[in-house]
Amino acid sequence: MTRITDIPNLEGYGVFVDGIDFKQLTKGEWKELGKLYMKKLVMIIRKSGLKNKKVFHKVLSKWGEHRQNYAAITFGKFPWAKGNIHEILASPDVPDDEKEYIKEYKRIGGLTREDGNILRVTGKKINGYRTGLFDHGELLWHSNECGDLAFTPGVALLGQEGMTKSATGVMVTAPYYNSISDSMRSELDEMVLIHNFVDGKINVNGENNIVYKNMCPEPNTEIPLVIQSPAGIKGLHYSFNTVTGSNNDRLLAEVKKGIEKYTYDYWWENDDDLMIFDNSITQHRRLGDTTDRLCLRYQFDYTYLHDGMYQPYLQEPYITRYTDRVTNFYKLLQHELCTK
Ligand SMILES: [Fe+2]
Repeated sequence: MTRITDIPNLEGYGVFVDGIDFKQLTKGEWKELGKLYMKKLVMIIRKSGLKNKKVFHKVLSKWGEHRQNYAAITFGKFPWAKGNIHEILASPDVPDDEKEYIKEYKRIGGLTREDGNILRVTGKKINGYRTGLFDHGELLWHSNECGDLAFTPGVALLGQEGMTKSATGVMVTAPYYNSISDSMRSELDEMVLIHNFVDGKINVNGENNIVYKNMCPEPNTEIPLVIQSPAGIKGLHYSFNTVTGSNNDRLLAEVKKGIEKYTYDYWWENDDDLMIFDNSITQHRRLGDTTDRLCLRYQFDYTYLHDGMYQPYLQEPYITRYTDRVTNFYKLLQHELCTK
């Protein structure tokens, strides 16, 4: 029997799902849960029973196709390789920094398109190399690809091993946006934030790998503060790690204080818990001990949960910029590499 209960402190956004049996669950029931997730922004499925990359991908790809923007851009540059990574790495025409990126992406689990390019976000060291994207330590508040105008809207984390000494926190912004006065809301509606990649703004331990730079691929990217989630929920695209300026810093400081109370840190209860959260108007973080922690991440859009293309923006020129950029990603994804 599936039970759905509210996650504390998120003002009605966020649910726990217990007692789910993926072997018995019909496609229709899973899709209904997907629709509920879209409205709730955060879903924690305890004891999912999902054990590995393949089943994780099979289940989540029923909600949406995988997306990794930086991978799409990088691999789109070498269409001549026709999916052969060894050709790229051997080519004298490919700059060394591109090769380093591709090697790192492979090392953390990418380049397996058949599994949805699921990455390890923490993993064991093998031959002295880290095998996860953010291999160890705590992570400060952020959202993924947050300084990219066409960020990927959904993130799913599936625990594997050693999860229960760590927490994943979420901060929802819709309750704050709904709670403020009409006049303040219209001020926020006008605000545009400037995003930049800044070293060390996520990872407490100072670990900086290359893939991490996908947080903001282009300097001084302008993104409106108020956007809508794929379900049309208005909230704030305010990710603390890439925002370097705004047209009203005093107001932004007030906003920061206001949103911080709508947070919940989920201390993983089971190694096979599945945590899925919105990446448009919600931030996340990591706390606790990551020794021997292995966790998988699937980043996805909501292809099969809503009709038509997701449009986060409510005003021009961002609507058009987004449409152009995201359409280009889907073209580039055609060239995406796999190891086979
Ligand atoms: Fe993240």
